[in-house]
Amino acid sequence: MKKNLLIFLIGACLISCREKKETGKIAIVPRPVELILQEGTCTLNAETRIEYGDPALEPVAVYLQTVIREIAGYEPVLSGVKTGDSVHPGNTVFFSLNETLREGDAYRLEIHPKGVQVEAVNPRSALLAVQTLRQLLPVHGADLTLPALQITDYPTWEWRGLMLDAARHFWSKAEVKRFIDLMALYKFNKFHWHLTDDQGWRIEIKKYPQLTEKAAWRHYNNHDRECMRLAEKESNDDFRLPEDRLRKTGDTVEYGGFYTQEEIREVVAYAAERGIDVIPEIDMPGHFSAAISVIPELACFNATGWGREFSAPICPGKEGTLAFCRDVYSEVFELFPYEYVHLGADEVEKDNWKKCPHCRARIRANGLKDEKELQAWFVKQMEVFFRGNGKKMIGWDEIIDGGLSETATVMWWRSWVKNAVHRATEQGNEVILAPNSHCYFDYKQDYSTLRKLYELEIVPKGLTPGQRKQIKGVQGNTWAEWIPSYKRVEYLTMPRMLAFSEVAWRSDSLRNWEEFYIGLPVQFGRLDELGVNYRPLDLENVYTSNAFVGETTVEWKQPLPAVQLRYTTDGSVPDEHSALYAGPFKLTESREYTIRFFRPNGSAADIVRTAYRKEAYRSAVELTDPAAGWKCAWHEAVVNSCDEIEKIPVKEEYTVESLRVPEGVGGKRALVYTGYLWIGKADVYTFSLGSDDGSQLYLHGELAVDNDGPHGPVTLMGQMALEKGWHPVRLYYFDMNNGGFIDLKISDSGGMNIELTGDLLKH
Ligand code: ACM
Ligand code: ZN
Repeated sequence: MKKNLLIFLIGACLISCREKKETGKIAIVPRPVELILQEGTCTLNAETRIEYGDPALEPVAVYLQTVIREIAGYEPVLSGVKTGDSVHPGNTVFFSLNETLREGDAYRLEIHPKGVQVEAVNPRSALLAVQTLRQLLPVHGADLTLPALQITDYPTWEWRGLMLDAARHFWSKAEVKRFIDLMALYKFNKFHWHLTDDQGWRIEIKKYPQLTEKAAWRHYNNHDRECMRLAEKESNDDFRLPEDRLRKTGDTVEYGGFYTQEEIREVVAYAAERGIDVIPEIDMPGHFSAAISVIPELACFNATGWGREFSAPICPGKEGTLAFCRDVYSEVFELFPYEYVHLGADEVEKDNWKKCPHCRARIRANGLKDEKELQAWFVKQMEVFFRGNGKKMIGWDEIIDGGLSETATVMWWRSWVKNAVHRATEQGNEVILAPNSHCYFDYKQDYSTLRKLYELEIVPKGLTPGQRKQIKGVQGNTWAEWIPSYKRVEYLTMPRMLAFSEVAWRSDSLRNWEEFYIGLPVQFGRLDELGVNYRPLDLENVYTSNAFVGETTVEWKQPLPAVQLRYTTDGSVPDEHSALYAGPFKLTESREYTIRFFRPNGSAADIVRTAYRKEAYRSAVELTDPAAGWKCAWHEAVVNSCDEIEKIPVKEEYTVESLRVPEGVGGKRALVYTGYLWIGKADVYTFSLGSDDGSQLYLHGELAVDNDGPHGPVTLMGQMALEKGWHPVRLYYFDMNNGGFIDLKISDSGGMNIELTGDLLKH
């Protein structure tokens, strides 16, 4: 007793107590469910002791010790288990388990001038409290002063995942760890590691050494060449392929890499220290060309190949193929202790299976109807093997087609397959939500990406409470076809990771974009210190093309004050010597600007091109007896750009009273809308054209918004000055048969939205 009291008094003296509220500086992401700020502070130092009330919490204490060493360069004392209800002396961080906290990964964090107390449901949730502490501490520095507060916190979703594709491009072990550490900071807990695909095999399998000796390496492919072109054209290092991923043998240079089993173990342990499970994916039966290229017998006709959409898969008709798949997964199971393992099973081109004698025999012998059922049969065979090894199988939502097993977990990605979640949960299967419409972090970003992601109500409508219970959680995926460097991974995933952490952590009703957005500059300050190659926020009210009449004031508001804007007016890519934007300026002539953001450490982000066009109001046209709506011509084809659409004959013509895809138009949709738009007053109008894939909007035959090309959801904006009256419109839109949308919003110079209702559209 006496000893404790003495320690208490010493501790109380060591901890400084400042009576200052630092509300402005507290920006924890995801924001805790409940945070009560109190008077005073608590300072940790080299004499701080880390104690825990249960041996299961020792790894948490050790992790905190590591965290503090990395921040401050010194290590607090680890003083081991404390049991009983002894008074906890000052200058301690005390972890204890409290199973009466609500279910899930709940924790309670109390910082008071005498020390820090963490109560957690389990060691994992204690680790989450450490991440909260990390965000309250500096990234580097000896002064570890924390604000006094009380936090009660718990996640909405048990599964808070991020996937990284290491097959299309390869990430070093250090890069993967860096990604995992960022995940941990923002309370993600499942790292899905996509380890094999057509473009490379990345995991050592002892039984088949040729997989990593050969299939982990390739000659540069079209994606690589395009990245290299962009690196030059846009003077952007993010697009450079790292030299250390080249292998030179004689005159041959190959690109790639792989993880040894030792390295995999190291990464899995690193993730576990941070409370993150690792889910490997060996994608099969499709996406398998890399392995087929070195073991051709795995495929139906002993060769790699490309079908109409995807690569030729392995042959589920051959026993040898099944044995290979089991062999591979046997080694994988040994390396990854987590019970969930991902089989992939997406995007399988089944044409070969129609023709292959082994596949035909398999279909007959098992009384299957067709190739779809053969795919389901293969998945079920693998699942039996998974279960026999104590593993639970996850597959992409294609595993629903052809008959879903009762126990597999479905990862929903095809946002256009709207009933997938209903079907799977109705049957009682678990589902993880990762709709590509929002959760694909490799997709191009625009000014609306972050907010759309943040405000995503991710659970599909119309589920019963029972079905809702089957939803295990949410995930963001980063595919790497177009990501040749780890810097580019960070550019595409940050700040998306921040927004998505709140989707995963906070319920829909607790999310608030404005509050989140206000806290972002503090988070970006942390990212600056961590050297993260983030995408700065978008300029407010700056469009791809801006129109003005007479003169205008050019104002570029970057929400991150520490980010500098440099620009050119001759189309060249700005560098660190280009003109620095110092505030609003007047413009009386048309001009184009190429703007580049420079982070506080001097590194450059992507360029932004914006044009300011001086114009006169475009005259309206007279219409006599116009008909209601716009015409919409459907050209049935998969095209790559808007100018290809009209080369294809019209299949069907429709009239629409709003901008929508007419009922009856199939998946291969290339559409041309024509008609007139009513404008109620002379003004400069902003047209926001959103589509997946490409679209273009013409007014008076002039391109107002160019959102062309195959792409995911992208919204671009352009302006035009229009007189009161009717204005001719021509709008092109195509989708590459993989689910998409077209959307047009119009607002006036005061920001008022103009509803595109039937009476404004004529033809
Ligand atoms: C996927 O995006 N093919 C799962
Ligand atoms: Zn076959």
